[in-house]
Amino acid sequence: MNKDAKIYIAGHRGLVGSAICRKLKTDGFKNVVVRTHAELDLLDREAVEEFFAKETPEYVVLAAARVGGIKANMTYPTEFLYQNLQIQNNVMWAAHQHSTSKLLFLGSSCIYPRDCPQPMNEDSFMKGPPEPTNEAYAIAKIAGMKLCEYIHEEHNKNFISCMPTNIYGEGDNLDPESSHVIPALMRRMHEAKVNNTPEVVIWGSGVSRREFLHCDDLADAVVMLLETYNDKQFVNVGCGEDISIKELAELMQKVVGYQGKLVFDTSKPDGMPKKLLDVTRLNKLGWKASIPFETGLTKMYAWFIEQPSVKN
Ligand SMILES: NC(=O)c1ccc[n+]([C@@H]2O[C@H](COP(=O)([O-])OP(=O)(O)OC[C@H]3O[C@@H](n4cnc5c(N)ncnc54)[C@H](OP(=O)(O)O)[C@@H]3O)[C@@H](O)[C@H]2O)c1
Repeated sequence: MNKDAKIYIAGHRGLVGSAICRKLKTDGFKNVVVRTHAELDLLDREAVEEFFAKETPEYVVLAAARVGGIKANMTYPTEFLYQNLQIQNNVMWAAHQHSTSKLLFLGSSCIYPRDCPQPMNEDSFMKGPPEPTNEAYAIAKIAGMKLCEYIHEEHNKNFISCMPTNIYGEGDNLDPESSHVIPALMRRMHEAKVNNTPEVVIWGSGVSRREFLHCDDLADAVVMLLETYNDKQFVNVGCGEDISIKELAELMQKVVGYQGKLVFDTSKPDGMPKKLLDVTRLNKLGWKASIPFETGLTKMYAWFIEQPSVKN
């Protein structure tokens, strides 16, 4: 990519979008275009169309979406399906109409079947129904990825997609109602430390295993894909390693400096025993994650304690 190329990052204030903007800046890209949600509501088809007609970005990264943890996904399936379909349809169609030469769509590993063999390989896509608790989100992501693929095939445009694993880091959503496991656990342990609470209760037995990737690693992979990947077939993006929830909680305890006890409430569900992406295809492109988990969590905690909503 030319350093002067006009690149539109949709969702630049989010966890992923902000990391991509930081990476592009570090790499010397000078023409990054952004709009806040208030300036451009991506649900508004006409406004999106007008924006693309005026700006005609050469590259587009679609990192705007309705995103949330299990509780938000289960409470608002209508909004998760409708808003995500609408945002991606509006952005992709406008990009297609206005000659964007390359678009990268951020999907999610939740597109894979609930009972997917582990680690989850790209070939397992559509081999079974997704996890019911995030079905609406998964269906929207499947539709977005397929739209990219069809535009690529039918209109010979370089629309590509990647399916990242769980992402964490600076800029994460800290709202207890909709946050993911890492920010939720960080907040609970931090509050327990500040309030001298003797124990923190964690749902489930702690044996289920999950994969986490720092947002700066994802941003690095996204820029690599933008610069070098031109295939219609989507690519998994992960670190290729998983960790048990118990190990995660213990590491979080160390990073936060919480001295109390961790209690695992085995009456609560564990969820899927394991969720790990197969990153062979990504590794073959010459890319590997480089931020160790403890380093990433430590960076995130330094950011976390500076946030206005956090009591120290
Ligand atoms: N976080 C993860 O673990 C993870 C994992 C895999 C894939 N991904 C994918 O990565 C992408 C970004 O996720 P994220 O974690 O960065 O989410 P995020 O932090 O919630 O950011 C989403 C961004 O989209 C914007 N947005 C939402 N609705 C909009 C609308 N109608 N008009 C304009 N902007 C709108 C939000 O702006 P406001 O906040 O102002 O509404 C926000 O800046 C998503 O496609 C997600 O599926 C994320």
